[in-house]
Amino acid sequence: MTAQLIDGKAVAASVQQKVKEEAALLKAKYNVVPGLATVLVGDNPASKAYVGSKQKMTQELGMYSVGAHLPADISQDELLKVIRGYGADPQVHGILIQLPLPAHLDQETVLSAVPLEKDVDGFHPINVGRLAMKNREPLFVPCTPSGCIVLIDSVGTKIEGARAVILGRSNIVGLPAAFLLLHRNATITICHSRTQNLPDVVRQADILVAAIGKAHFVKADWIKPGATVIDVGINAIPDATKKSGQRLVGDVDFENVKEVAGAITPVPGGVGPMTIAMLMQNTCTSAKRAVGLSK
Ligand code: GUN
Repeated sequence: MTAQLIDGKAVAASVQQKVKEEAALLKAKYNVVPGLATVLVGDNPASKAYVGSKQKMTQELGMYSVGAHLPADISQDELLKVIRGYGADPQVHGILIQLPLPAHLDQETVLSAVPLEKDVDGFHPINVGRLAMKNREPLFVPCTPSGCIVLIDSVGTKIEGARAVILGRSNIVGLPAAFLLLHRNATITICHSRTQNLPDVVRQADILVAAIGKAHFVKADWIKPGATVIDVGINAIPDATKKSGQRLVGDVDFENVKEVAGAITPVPGGVGPMTIAMLMQNTCTSAKRAVGLSK
């Protein structure tokens, strides 16, 4: 069997089209343009590329993009001032602090400085806490895991009652993905570097979310036939046939796993585009709330 390919680019494009229409409506009816402020500290090339893509998409959807690119040695007080400035700016509906931050900055203090109603990344401790509890509503949930859920839904995989295995326990992907799946009534298992008999655990998964950052780590004989496989990994491996000398692959051995899985996301073109699409959606939701249009 060859798995159904989950086309993240197409799903992201449809989310973005809707955001574009909603942004146009907000402008026409309320003279409000959804605005996203990005905050980049230092010169990590991957972070620079991600922030650039987020800014570009914000503009493409007719929204307002503003950004601060700050030196790697900025003091915490200076950084907090920048964040508070965006917090007070009525043109800004969402603030994104690109992670990771340099080690001398206290991530929790920095993320706490984002006003809750502008926390479009869902990383404010109060939003995280609400996500981690029953019957609480975070104002926003993190973009990569919420994009994973949209992709799972896009192929009609039933989440309720499914066994979902999450590889990785990061604050950005693994943990929030686990809570989102749990709130949809999946039975969840979170695996990490100390998990024993990992292949046996993965074999139980009706839904697998791989977010560990190791190229081609998940093998075909770990996969339950028909499972839905969501690959969050973005890993560069050497490839002499490419001009850059490398190419991007996921955490899953795609070529072999696709012969066993029921549905699978490719890398690139799977989860990656969804992260940006969900960020755009969150920013637009924030602007809708600002004019009283959304809960
Ligand atoms: N670094 C890696 N992924 C993300 C993300 O989704 N949001 C932010 N802010 N930083 C990241």
